[in-house]
Amino acid sequence: MQACSRHLEQCLLHRLAEPNPRPLGLATGRTMEPLYGALVARLKLWPQEQLQQLCRHWLSFNLDDYVGLSAGDPSGYSAYMQKHLGQPLGLGPQQLRLPQPDAVDPEAAAQAYQQSLAATGGVGLQLLGLGSNGHVGFNEPPCGPLMACRVVQLSAATRQQNAGLFGGDPQRVPEAAITLGLKEILAAEEIHLVVTGSGKAAILKKLLDDEPSEQLPASWLRQHPWVWLWVDRAAMG
Ligand code: GLP
Repeated sequence: MQACSRHLEQCLLHRLAEPNPRPLGLATGRTMEPLYGALVARLKLWPQEQLQQLCRHWLSFNLDDYVGLSAGDPSGYSAYMQKHLGQPLGLGPQQLRLPQPDAVDPEAAAQAYQQSLAATGGVGLQLLGLGSNGHVGFNEPPCGPLMACRVVQLSAATRQQNAGLFGGDPQRVPEAAITLGLKEILAAEEIHLVVTGSGKAAILKKLLDDEPSEQLPASWLRQHPWVWLWVDRAAMG
């Protein structure tokens, strides 16, 4: 986490010098919690003026959020982002964009989210975690590389994996989500896939060994020219 957070810190520093950097693409999940913690600790050591400049110009788009939660639901990803980045850095909801979880028409909300990202030129630096079934964002298998931002049905495995934020009960995890697709993810300038813990060892091995396929959505990342893979010892198996 230290190596990855140091690298991200350097990326953020370079972006300060760019006239119109593209927005950041951010992820949620347990993997990102220590990473955001380490990154925030580093940023807090910056000279105050530099940190203020970074925060003033901050714009990020998250990968995904659940469908059917209220906007302020503590299990939603908006609350997650406020907790891990918004509050520590003083960033407002307009700077930390996510799909709208409580839209009456989720398909329209997915389109609106896609359009607001497209209006910025797309993601610059994309952070990704890896689902145990090989998903990135909520691009559940099977999923091809051209799939765009949309409403998806979540698999039983994913609802089980993410039950922690819902009192441990997979039945309480919403059945659907809005996710950026592989299309938007692969259009990012650079991608950082972070994989930690022994629970991800099997899927990481598959990702490294197998040819790209719809059964392993993360495998399409191998077609991108600028992907960083950050792993810990446990995930290496
Ligand atoms: C979740 C999220 C992803 C996340 C991934 C890994 O379902 N939709 O954005 O990166 O799966 O989650 P975790 O880090 O908790 O293992």
